[in-house]
Amino acid sequence: MVTKIEELLEKVRSFTPQAEAEIEEFRIRLLGKKGEITALMDEFRSVAPEMKRELGQRLNTLKTAAMERINELKAARSAARASGGGIDDMTRPGTNDQLGSRHPISLVRNEILAIFARLGYTVADGPEIEDDWHVFSALNFPPDHPARDMQDTFFIEKNPDILLRTHTSSIQVRVMETQKPPIRVVCPGRVFRNEAISSRSHCIFHQVEGLYIDENVSFADLKQSIQFFAKEMFGEGAKIRLRPSFFPFTEPSAEVDVSCNLCNGEGCSVCKGTGWLEIMGCGMVDPNVLEASGIDSDRYTGFAFGMGIERIAMLRFGVRDIRLFFENDVRFLRQFASAL
Ligand code: FA5
Ligand code: MG
Repeated sequence: MVTKIEELLEKVRSFTPQAEAEIEEFRIRLLGKKGEITALMDEFRSVAPEMKRELGQRLNTLKTAAMERINELKAARSAARASGGGIDDMTRPGTNDQLGSRHPISLVRNEILAIFARLGYTVADGPEIEDDWHVFSALNFPPDHPARDMQDTFFIEKNPDILLRTHTSSIQVRVMETQKPPIRVVCPGRVFRNEAISSRSHCIFHQVEGLYIDENVSFADLKQSIQFFAKEMFGEGAKIRLRPSFFPFTEPSAEVDVSCNLCNGEGCSVCKGTGWLEIMGCGMVDPNVLEASGIDSDRYTGFAFGMGIERIAMLRFGVRDIRLFFENDVRFLRQFASAL
């Protein structure tokens, strides 16, 4: 009887079914009414009393091992079935794993950061919920100045003012407060403006801010850096133009347009017939802004720029409607799976 028990135990341990049906067959062969283990149990009743203890233990071990092995195999099978796996039927059509992909806005953000990394810029981050100081006051927006109206703001609390940042320029303030020049950072992030006045506009979009402060930084450096960026992002043929503009935190200031590659500069609905698309604002950091963050404006100069990621993505991928980036229809998103 001992040899028989050992033999069955070995069978249980090495049992590896090829098909699901074999597990149940195996159970019946061992534990069924006429099963081999069941037979041993019957036989056990008639063993000599002095043998009962040892044989009883061995039999129990065998029975438990058999039941555990069978349950384990059954559980593994149903888990495989639940996840669509299992290899019971090699001819069954496979299940497709839908691989996700990065959102086009993330792809373009990463590309922007990579281009500026090649110019020595590191990445800085900041909060989306900000105070008035970092979004406006430290950036030389006087209280009640009309420039604040250019960025219609969502307030969370008044006095002291807590708000959703309207631009990523708030991060440049945080960087200047904590780092000493030379400073060279790009700051990506989500920004919020109460601009949903038409069905096309959206109250959330994304920006990347850039900031470069050192001795002898000039407007020529700014223009060269943006030209480099445009060619890296849109190809050698990309043209930029700078239009004089106003921002409280830069002087002089400019808007940067890039030639519209949706219509090759001929004029379309996206560029409103002009052949150009505004992608960013920029300028030389106003000395008041440097001083507000404790940087010596007699010694240091710098430039800053802030671009909209959606605009860059529209141009880069030829997307004509900004809303597509927010609707998150996978048929749209899937097209960018291997875009960059
Ligand atoms: C600013 O936000 C400034 N902070 C930019 C700046 C930074 C200027 C540093 C000088 C120095 P503006 O509001 O123009 O500027 O926005 C910058 C860019 O964000 C725009 O050129 C555009 O590409 C994008 N943008 C602005 N409004 C929207 C919108 N409603 N939807 C999508 N993109 C937008
Ligand atoms: Mg603008």
